[in-house]
Amino acid sequence: MSVSLTVDLLDSALYADGNPYEVWRAMREAGPVHHQVAKSGARHWAVVGHEAGKQVLTDWRVFTSTRGTTLRESDNSAPYPGAGKMPVLTDPPRHTELRRAVAPLFTPRAVEKLGALGREVAGALLADLRERGGGDFVTDVAARFPLAVQAEILGIAPDDIPLVLDATGRSADETGDGATGHHDVMAYYLKALGTRRGDAGRDLVGTLLQARTAGLPLSDEEIVLTCDNIVVAATQTAQHAASGALLALLEHPDAWRALRAGRVDPDCAIDELLRFTAPATHVMRTAVCDTELAGTAIRAGDAVAVWIPSANRDGSVFADPDELVLDRRPNPHLSLGAGMHFCLGGPMVRVLLRALLEDLIGAGTSLALANPPVRKSGAVANGLRSLPVTVVPA
Ligand code: HEM
Repeated sequence: MSVSLTVDLLDSALYADGNPYEVWRAMREAGPVHHQVAKSGARHWAVVGHEAGKQVLTDWRVFTSTRGTTLRESDNSAPYPGAGKMPVLTDPPRHTELRRAVAPLFTPRAVEKLGALGREVAGALLADLRERGGGDFVTDVAARFPLAVQAEILGIAPDDIPLVLDATGRSADETGDGATGHHDVMAYYLKALGTRRGDAGRDLVGTLLQARTAGLPLSDEEIVLTCDNIVVAATQTAQHAASGALLALLEHPDAWRALRAGRVDPDCAIDELLRFTAPATHVMRTAVCDTELAGTAIRAGDAVAVWIPSANRDGSVFADPDELVLDRRPNPHLSLGAGMHFCLGGPMVRVLLRALLEDLIGAGTSLALANPPVRKSGAVANGLRSLPVTVVPA
């Protein structure tokens, strides 16, 4: 198949059937770094190789996060909302401070507690799906699961879960106005902040307020933006990871059987499912000085985007990169990022996916595709809108 190397990676048509792996493969074969000019005229360097991608994500002194981490439609050098005020959009030393401020939420003990709750919630959602003989795994399970488990630490009252779920869903809408979703998430936390002073509590807002009391300068705006960063990250990508993982297993019956038979370590399988599905499609940085990346000259101010699913299928790092190999070791995928911005929710993701997998593995019945899945993929995230499943004998 002949693939044009000048294809516009921001073109939504490219993602209609999921990630454009053939395009990325052709690009990788030609080199790890490519100049891209979008239809709008916006330019960026597309990094499709693993080594160069890891370098960009790790070398924050050269590649800053403060100018945005996702490519924009028309001008990648335009000011980015929230820049410098939330963990994902800061560089050290401020980044280290913000990350430390929320660290109490992600201690091994907190994660373990979430694991127990995760098993309970996964059990209830999947039991309900089975009782009905099947349903839509995305709307019935994957979309509800991450927030149902994490609501308490995120400071979201049970009655407010649908409202926040709707807002985070809109915030990630690549075809509409994601800004309204972010706006509603921030309005929710601004209100929470207003009622919380003096009574910090142990959830997200409370933890940030405690950091402020302990002496960290932290404005209300930074608190609200940090909440937005964490809540959107905690719900959307985890949803895509869960539904993507199930689809990958249903499409690879041998792997699914091996997992169910206990022949594969579930933690190892989770890493491979993350590599293979790659819920985050690209992560952007901006060069702060003239530099060189894999032999390509990059100028100060240039936007550089790491195309994660492509890096995850780089044949110089992963044997049989297009195969789902559940016991793949080592597995240095970039699905959760790399370096100091490595996903803060990494341990959460693992316990959430493990809880779902354990329930699916242990069930007396199995699931099968009832109808073809409907994609919700784009240049920012790779997910499913719908995954109709039916209950079948194990
Ligand atoms: C499978 C699900 C997830 C995927 C694929 C994912 C992916 C990522 C990636 C690629 C980054 C790096 C961004 C960058 O370098 O600019 C990141 C950062 C981050 N993630 Fe996740 N994430 C997931 C789930 C979560 C969850 C459940 C949480 C919260 C509980 C979370 C919170 C964050 C935060 C706060 C950051 C920013 C960290 C920083 O800048 O230091 N993520 N995530």
